[in-house]
This record gives sequence, structure tokens and C-alpha cells, in this order.
Amino acid sequence: MAAIKTVGVIGSGQMGNGIAHVAALAGFNVVLYDVSADRLKSAMATINGNLTRQVTKKTITEDAHKHALARITSSDSLDGLAACDLVIETAVEKEEVKRKIFHDLCAVLRPEAIIASNTSSISITRLAASTDRPEKFIGIHFMNPVPVMELAELIRGIATDDATFDAARAFVTAMGKQIAVSEDFPAFIVNRILLPMINEAIYTLYEGVGNVEAIDAAMKLGAHHPMGPLELADFIGLDTCLSIMQVLHEGLADSKYRPCPLLVKYVEAGWLGRKSQRGFYDYR
Ligand code: CAA
Repeated sequence: MAAIKTVGVIGSGQMGNGIAHVAALAGFNVVLYDVSADRLKSAMATINGNLTRQVTKKTITEDAHKHALARITSSDSLDGLAACDLVIETAVEKEEVKRKIFHDLCAVLRPEAIIASNTSSISITRLAASTDRPEKFIGIHFMNPVPVMELAELIRGIATDDATFDAARAFVTAMGKQIAVSEDFPAFIVNRILLPMINEAIYTLYEGVGNVEAIDAAMKLGAHHPMGPLELADFIGLDTCLSIMQVLHEGLADSKYRPCPLLVKYVEAGWLGRKSQRGFYDYR
């Protein structure tokens, strides 16, 4: 399989723009796709801001910043991804949305190209089966914020071939990330462990064991977590947290994964965390 040079990223939200940022810094050409030109514009501004922060912290040079930005083009049409060697999907954690994207992508993407999903929980085998190339499909799950976190999980579907796995591993390594290989089980490794902890923190709030500040302080100061679990839930997005808990609950059929009713209620209210300005904290 030819080396990966041009990477397409579907979705310009926090995961998509983070992957575009780090891939461009690592020397890959990047095409960032989203449905709206406005979202792309704001994603490019975010990437520029995060690169500037790295220049200020002296973790990258001004030249690296300039060259990385020059390597990213944006497109509000999937046709813009036609010539990519690898396309990474970072759309919302809803299987039907991802399936529709893969259907439309396969119609334009060259047949040799690899398709990856950054899904945080959904079966790679099932997503692969909705494409015309299950053997060239793989899970590459980055962590948020992508420029900071050292890990990516690699998940093979049942049909993923060795060449695809090797190319994905080489790409992730070139991005400077460590790899944890996970079997294709609901929510893989990180979220299988992290999300039940966050869900339990929400139950702790729901049952009145402690208030938001006490729960977060307890885990930050008592367990040395960089963020409290409720702050982290807001950071990940409460809709994403709920989707992952639902995948765990349905996929493993165990009541210990039942999403906390308070999490459900917040999502129903449109309180999705930082991105909607309101979650367990008020960001307005
Ligand atoms: N781009 C570039 N650099 C960034 C950045 C970004 N988007 N965000 C933060 N940074 C850098 C800062 O510049 C700073 O750099 P220095 O160490 O050189 O000073 C460093 O990261 C720390 O940032 P801050 O000083 O602003 O703030 P902080 O110390 O509170 O750290 C944090 C912020 C790195 C996000 C930290 O709070 C943290 O590690 N939180 C936990 C994050 C986590 O658990 N992520 C996984 C979520 S789960 C997931 O992603 C999987 C899923 O599918 C849901």
C-alpha cells in the first residue's frame, strides 16, 4: 500500500479540527470537510489559535505554524476528499449519520483509499460493513484535546486487512501518538473505563451525595485527575457521553451501564456542556 500523504477529515468540530491540526504539523496534507463554510471558517480560526498557543509556549516554531496552516485546505463538498489516501470521519456519535456519510463518501473516494472512523464507541465491524471496502476500514480513536493527549486507540473490524492496520499504525505514529490496540468491543478501552466513571459521578450528583464542586474537587485533589469528572463530561459533550453510555448499555446488556437519568435530562434540555454554553457548569 502506498504511503499516506493526503488525509481527509470529515467534521470540523473539536476532534476534527484537532486531528487536522496535528496531522498538518506532522507534515501531511489535510483536507478538512464540513457541511457548512461557516463551521469550516471557525474551525480554521480554532486551529490557528491552538497553533499560536503552541508557538507562544515554544513547543513549535513560527515556521512550523505557518507550514501547518498552509497544508490544510477546507471543503464543504465531499468531492474535495476524492484524492485522499486516508479519510478519518469524526461526525456525531450516531450510527445512522456515520453510515450515510460513508455511503456518500464511497461514491467519490478513490477505491485504494483507507477509511477510518474516530468513533468513540460504535462497532467498527458494523460501520465497515456499510462501506464498499470493509478490508480498508479501521477505527482510529483520538483523545480530546488531540494536540495534547498522547494516545490513539486502533481498532480492527473483523475484515480489516494487515496492510490497512500497518498504514494506520504508521500514520498515528507519525503524528507522534502512542497506540493502544483494542478489540472491537463497545466503547473500546478508554471509554469502557472512563465513561462509567463519569456516569457514576453524575449518579453521585443525582443522588445528592455531593454537589458539582465537591465531586470535581474530590476527584481532582483526591485522585489527581487533571479535570473533575463533571467538568470533563462538559468538555467531552454530554450528548457524546450519553451516546457512549447507550452503546455500552445496549452492547453489553448489563444494568451497570445504565445512563444516569440526570444525564438524559440534561441532553433532552439541550444542555450539552461547553459547546452549548451550559452543562454541569454555566459557561455563559
Ligand atoms: N491545542 C494545543 N495545545 C493545547 C490545547 C489545544 N487544543 N489545549 C491545551 N493545550 C496545552 C496548553 O497550551 C498547555 O501547554 P503547556 O503544558 O506547554 O503549558 C497544556 O496543554 C495544558 O493546558 P492548560 O494550561 O490550558 O490547562 P490545563 O493544565 O488545565 O490542561 C487539559 C488542559 C490538557 C485539557 C487537561 O485539563 C486535561 O488533560 N484534561 C483531561 C482531558 C481528558 O481526559 N481527555 C480525554 C477525554 S476522553 C476522550 O477524548 C475520548 C472520547 O471519545 C470521549
